[in-house]
Amino acid sequence: MSVQSKIAPEGAKTSNKKVLAFVEEAKALFKPEAVVWCDGSHVEYQHLLKTLVDGGTAMWLNPEKRPNSILVRSDPLDVARVEDQTYICSKSKDDAGPTNNWFDPAEMKATLTKLYDGAMAGRTMYVVPYSMGPVGSPIAGIGVMVTDSAYAVANMHIMTRVGDKVLKALGDSEDFVRGMHTVGYPLSTPTTADVPWPCNKTKYISHFPETREIWSYGSGYGGNALLGKKCHALRIASVKARDEGWMAEHMLILKLTNPAGESKFMAAAFPSACGKTNLAMLMPTIPGWKAETIGDDICWMKFGADGRLYAINPETGFFGVAPGTSTESNFNAMETLYANCIYSNVALTDDGDVWWEQMSETPAHTVDWMRRSWTPASGRPAAHPNARFTAPAAQCPVIAKEWEDPKGVPIDAILFGGRRATVAPLVTEAMSWQHGTFLGSIMASEKTAAAAGKIGDLRRDPMAMLPFCGYHMGDYFAHWLKMGEKGGDKMPKIFYVNWFRKSPEGKFMWPGYAENSRVLKWIFERCDGNAKAVDTPIGKLPAEGSLDVSGLKVAPDTVKELTKVDVEGWKAELPLIKEHFATFGAKLPKGLKDELAALEQRLG
Ligand code: OXD
Ligand code: MN
Repeated sequence: MSVQSKIAPEGAKTSNKKVLAFVEEAKALFKPEAVVWCDGSHVEYQHLLKTLVDGGTAMWLNPEKRPNSILVRSDPLDVARVEDQTYICSKSKDDAGPTNNWFDPAEMKATLTKLYDGAMAGRTMYVVPYSMGPVGSPIAGIGVMVTDSAYAVANMHIMTRVGDKVLKALGDSEDFVRGMHTVGYPLSTPTTADVPWPCNKTKYISHFPETREIWSYGSGYGGNALLGKKCHALRIASVKARDEGWMAEHMLILKLTNPAGESKFMAAAFPSACGKTNLAMLMPTIPGWKAETIGDDICWMKFGADGRLYAINPETGFFGVAPGTSTESNFNAMETLYANCIYSNVALTDDGDVWWEQMSETPAHTVDWMRRSWTPASGRPAAHPNARFTAPAAQCPVIAKEWEDPKGVPIDAILFGGRRATVAPLVTEAMSWQHGTFLGSIMASEKTAAAAGKIGDLRRDPMAMLPFCGYHMGDYFAHWLKMGEKGGDKMPKIFYVNWFRKSPEGKFMWPGYAENSRVLKWIFERCDGNAKAVDTPIGKLPAEGSLDVSGLKVAPDTVKELTKVDVEGWKAELPLIKEHFATFGAKLPKGLKDELAALEQRLG
């Protein structure tokens, strides 16, 4: 019997027939050496860390620097989500839409069944019952995942609520997402040697939206393996949300409090690498204002009894990109990392601590993420660009007291944004929910290297959901519009922000980071009707003097430039929007076509 199987000797703590049958089927297919039902306890978590260290996957960091924290280095061929091998296996290809890889569900299952057969030989199969969201919350959802990766389980412990309490909350219900995951590296004979990071060069991250199943093969890293995150909480949940009338979004959630002690909750969608975690934890520069964090990546919203949208963060941790994170860029994230974290693919310092690019002064020597000796002269980064920390959200010094409230928090404003050197102003308020949905649908980021003054290399990423929407994006837009019809004037106001505007000389015009609190203040006050806006062809922009720039070293002309409409830029954008919209064919909702026509008309 393996070491791990001692963790939960009693096995299943459920009589739920569907759960038991799912686990039995998985066991028959994967043929593991042992099965462990995870109870979610601290003792179990510590066992998992020990298993990872004993097996050579992880090492302990210096306990005086990073108590109870481990460093894991993955296989260099398994370092990120694999979008090319991510599939939406809906019955009809049309339901997956133009932005997803589609595969016939029966064929995908046949392919994967072959790969799954005996894939856990010589390994332990962990059964992980988890809740996305506070256990028992009406907004939360449950999943049961089987995996042969102790690394995935340890991460799930930090990122989700795991264990017996989840099975208890599930009771006899069939409403759970079934997730199967294997690294695809069986220990076929008793003498087959294990490797520090088992994985397979063949990878499939497959979703079966109709049956709420996830079948993942070959990767142990990040969103490929932590099935609660992108696979469940976004791809499967977006379909469930459409079917049931709620929203599963790629958004941070923050609480902003003014000097009078009044609070508002905001949710914000940005494509990856636009500073979501930084915004979620920002420290306002305006005296008397306070920002607190509810979540940094995913937001589930349902209508409350009062007709407003209430949001929860389905996660309990931050799976953040380490490089670029520092006390300057995100003080609160750095404070969160003091202990009890998993670090993946960062560098190891000579005193047993972690390091990554821009974290602090560059050390004279480290061991890089590929376990090679590294100095600043090495000419390559010490940490992988997608190196991660997995950190308990409860350790964040600015976690809001409501972050685990089962009823969620009422959302006042939704923010969209991207990286645009040109065209998009600092902040625009949508004229209506439909107009806001339009702004979300044309969200785009351009490469930072794009020449200022020209429309650069744009990647459209509607609502930041491009890699995460589990169904046809045209239907997803229609769902947004339907939610707006249902919620009427109780829906949050929608804003489009852009921190990344550049001058013709290529310099950022807005300082960003903590100074973004000034824009949040304007948004807060717009929600209360206390800040002035002017109507323009593209939406409502801050009236002169309404954006609080006191004490900020930005020239008044620059502020003017940041808050005005670039009519010619927008006119040049129209054909690009049309091209983007053409992707969705007949499924593009009329409401969005109308918004585009109205924009064209207003621009003259
Ligand atoms: C993430 C992402 O890892 O959006 O959160 O890519
Ligand atoms: Mn994300």
